[in-house]
Amino acid sequence: MMVCPPIDFQPLKVDEKNHKALELLASLHARAFEGRDEKPWLAKDFEKFLKSPGFQGFVYHSAKQPVAFALMRIVCDEAELITVGVDPVFQRKGHAKRMLAHLVGQLKRQSAVKFFLEVREDNHSAMTLYEAFGFKKVGKRRAYYQTLRGIKYDAYLFALNL
Ligand SMILES: CC(C)(COP(=O)(O)OP(=O)(O)OC[C@H]1O[C@@H](n2cnc3c(N)ncnc32)[C@H](O)[C@@H]1OP(=O)(O)O)[C@@H](O)C(=O)NCCC(=O)NCCS
Repeated sequence: MMVCPPIDFQPLKVDEKNHKALELLASLHARAFEGRDEKPWLAKDFEKFLKSPGFQGFVYHSAKQPVAFALMRIVCDEAELITVGVDPVFQRKGHAKRMLAHLVGQLKRQSAVKFFLEVREDNHSAMTLYEAFGFKKVGKRRAYYQTLRGIKYDAYLFALNL
């Protein structure tokens, strides 16, 4: 597993009633996924998820700036990373590594034993990150993603034993 250098990195758990934080999740998502031809996730989408059982959302600040976000779901002892991203301005600074380490810590405290996620087949930077973190490719879902322009992509399913 990768080791991250120490840095000011503050996770903030997002409550579905915190409208400012929901807007922040949506704007970080839009910035991270810009140019990928994917449907935007609005504050109301994050609100809906976070009202549902098992969902947990986080916004991460570094030097008081919002830099990254994550949304995951835990059901019994299994968890799924629903979406995650780092503002392009702050990428390649180790924030995603720190974020994954934080999420794994949260999940272990909640007695989860397995962490799953899906990645679009062309998202090589994310796959490099997950593999370096210790996730293993365990499956493929055909035509799992469809872009706004109707292009279909497979998804790779990754899993990490916690
Ligand atoms: C994927 C993503 C979350 C990585 O965030 P990040 O903060 O830049 O990642 P880190 O700086 O922690 O990088 C950790 C490692 O991941 C790999 N990595 C990250 N970005 C990479 C890139 N563009 N190209 C190749 N490898 C990359 C590298 O191994 C890197 O380690 P290194 O910098 O020591 O070489 C970010 O690029 C992003 O938000 N992308 C758009 C949204 C997205 O794809 N989300 C994931 C959906 S499954």
